[in-house]
Amino acid sequence: MEKVLSGMRPTGKLHIGHYFGALKNWVDLQEKYECFYFIADWHALTTTYENPENIEAYRRDLVLDWLSVGIDPEKSTLFIQSKNLYHAELFVLLSMITPVAWLERCPSYKEIKMELKDRDLNNLGFLSYPLLQTVDIILYSAKYVPVGIDQLPHIEISREIVRRFHHLYNCEIFVEPEGLLTEVPKLLGTDGRKMSKSYGNTIMLSEDLKSVEKKIMTMITDTNRKRRSDPGNPDICPIFDYHKVFSTEDEKAEIIDGCKNAKIGCVDCKRILLKHLVEFLTPIQEKRKYYDNLISDIDEFLKDGQQKANETAGKIMESVRKAMRI
Ligand code: TRP
Ligand code: SF4
Repeated sequence: MEKVLSGMRPTGKLHIGHYFGALKNWVDLQEKYECFYFIADWHALTTTYENPENIEAYRRDLVLDWLSVGIDPEKSTLFIQSKNLYHAELFVLLSMITPVAWLERCPSYKEIKMELKDRDLNNLGFLSYPLLQTVDIILYSAKYVPVGIDQLPHIEISREIVRRFHHLYNCEIFVEPEGLLTEVPKLLGTDGRKMSKSYGNTIMLSEDLKSVEKKIMTMITDTNRKRRSDPGNPDICPIFDYHKVFSTEDEKAEIIDGCKNAKIGCVDCKRILLKHLVEFLTPIQEKRKYYDNLISDIDEFLKDGQQKANETAGKIMESVRKAMRI
């Protein structure tokens, strides 16, 4: 069976954007591939090394979020990057053959540095982020890597590093990975901007339902629709984007007609959405609670997955050392 691998940085509780942009796909891929999903805690450190105190709690949050939406440790191999030291070993070895210029010209390097101006990102770890990511992927011979479009340059670097290794040492040890793009529905944050933790405008999978209600009821709509009697335009309303994901065809047709002809108010429209959101979030949150009570120690819970991951990586490292005569 072909292998799929992907990872997330433990940087806080996941929101519905993460679900529809990534996790939903991860869950489906479990049926068709041998999947490896891991917590990229070293990657989190590349930008949070000054304030690492939350990483441990975030690791637990991430695992609970995954389990709550149906990532299944019986089907997939779940593990923690920092608990497999082969990642460090392969990183060192590949650092010998990776041109610094490949990392410097990576678009995400400049973009994230601009975005996180408040932090000092002149550290080597941040520059070599795509190399560490390469290691994560090729240690497990993953063929497909489900990622967002922003990550494609990293996958391209992985492919280049693999080719360079094979060429230099005249071997064929690694699988050249391919990105697997997910179609991501547009779900804006509750303030109408991009949904992002740093804007505080997300709806988390574990969000208290009362809080979800408050956020939806105060969320911006078509800003031209000031009064109930004004006609609105669903095409430019962020609430309608949510209806596209959550509501039935009949409901959507009714909302389009009702909105354009001022037959329904935004409050009614939001109530319909809220009903669906509650239906969507309730079983997820129940499952999360179940696992939260069940699991006392995350490392212990992930023991089998971790062992399998480490053994898989250990085998390929033997070939790598041989190829590099070390
Ligand atoms: N860079 C990825 C992100 O920010 C996380 C990640 C680290 C990853 N290593 C990976 C994703 C390997 C896929 C494969 O989302
Ligand atoms: Fe948006 Fe619904 Fe209000 Fe129309 S009725 S503007 S779709 S919230």
